[in-house]
Amino acid sequence: MSATITTTVTAPSATDVLQVTPLENAPFGARITLPAYTQDPADLNEDDFQRLYSAVHQYLVVVIPDQAKLKPSSQYKLTKLFDPTCEGAYGHSKEFRHEKSVLRRDGHSTPSQPQVQILGQGRHDGHEGVPDLVLRHPTHMSFHHDPLTEDEMANGYTRFYRWHIDSALYGLAPPVATTLLGIDCPVDKNQKIRYEDTGEEITTAKAATAFASGAIAFDNLSDEDKEFALNTTVVYAPHPYIFISPARATSDALTMVSEGKELPLDELPEWEQDKIKRLPLVWTNPVTGKHHMQVHGCCIWKLETPNGTLELEEARNTVHRLMRPNISPDRIYCHDWNNGDLVIFFNRGVWHSVTGQFEEGGRRLMHQCNIASGVDPICKK
Ligand SMILES: [Fe+2]
Repeated sequence: MSATITTTVTAPSATDVLQVTPLENAPFGARITLPAYTQDPADLNEDDFQRLYSAVHQYLVVVIPDQAKLKPSSQYKLTKLFDPTCEGAYGHSKEFRHEKSVLRRDGHSTPSQPQVQILGQGRHDGHEGVPDLVLRHPTHMSFHHDPLTEDEMANGYTRFYRWHIDSALYGLAPPVATTLLGIDCPVDKNQKIRYEDTGEEITTAKAATAFASGAIAFDNLSDEDKEFALNTTVVYAPHPYIFISPARATSDALTMVSEGKELPLDELPEWEQDKIKRLPLVWTNPVTGKHHMQVHGCCIWKLETPNGTLELEEARNTVHRLMRPNISPDRIYCHDWNNGDLVIFFNRGVWHSVTGQFEEGGRRLMHQCNIASGVDPICKK
């Protein structure tokens, strides 16, 4: 007589696997709950990392709460996991800190993990072992053609600072993912942004990070513009952040005002023709197969279109026309930072912008990491 052996297979409980919950009242984005076995997202098992990887590509911006203690080494490891081709360097080259670059004052490298940048506002002496650490939140006052008046700012108004994709846009390929960790993000009052062309106004948390989906941007183009976008290549200027440094941005922060102020090419640091970035205007999401209109409107130099090459001013006007509807209030997600939020975004699928300005003595502390990819994004028509 043989014994009967019964095997009970228990389905994993909700806390055993990583959970993805779409954000409510937002056009995209999701909240992640880590599985019970770890609170370090760099230590997920293969299946759970795949869930996270898919969520980032599907929802474009994901938030993992309660990560204030995440070590820079873990943040670097996690960021690298999103791109097996990346070689480990930060998403920008050494020109990041060039004295003329518009990015020069944005952050400080973490000594133990130089690919992780410390961002924020105010004095944070000794943070990550950095003595005399003083951070400065980017302000539209030094970047926009027509900044807000003191009165407007006193009344709670701010601007989108610069809609962008994280990328050197010269020599290096755009990072796949950016991780942004809010360690100490006091939110003490609301801020307002007015769209000067339509008069619309939004209210967000102070210094929220704004995101727009490149997929929603593409989906809402007319059939004619979709055809145009699918067949257009964006050419970025050599050392683009230095090239645009004397110019100033439009009030919506999508591109620069064309007044002939850009640095002449022979006054830029040495540059090579084959390092100039030529990227499709549309990048295909490798997980969803969706088309994303992805362009850094401030750094654009030329557009190679089916009807010929558009030079600087016309190229800017064209991308501005295509991009502007996509930053409308109902299309964007503004992340209101809580201490410990780790935001991971698909840098090849969204545009994002800093907002807000801090008063004297204001403080904020964040860690950011993105790593240049080994390959450029492609458009699969
Ligand atoms: Fe950024």
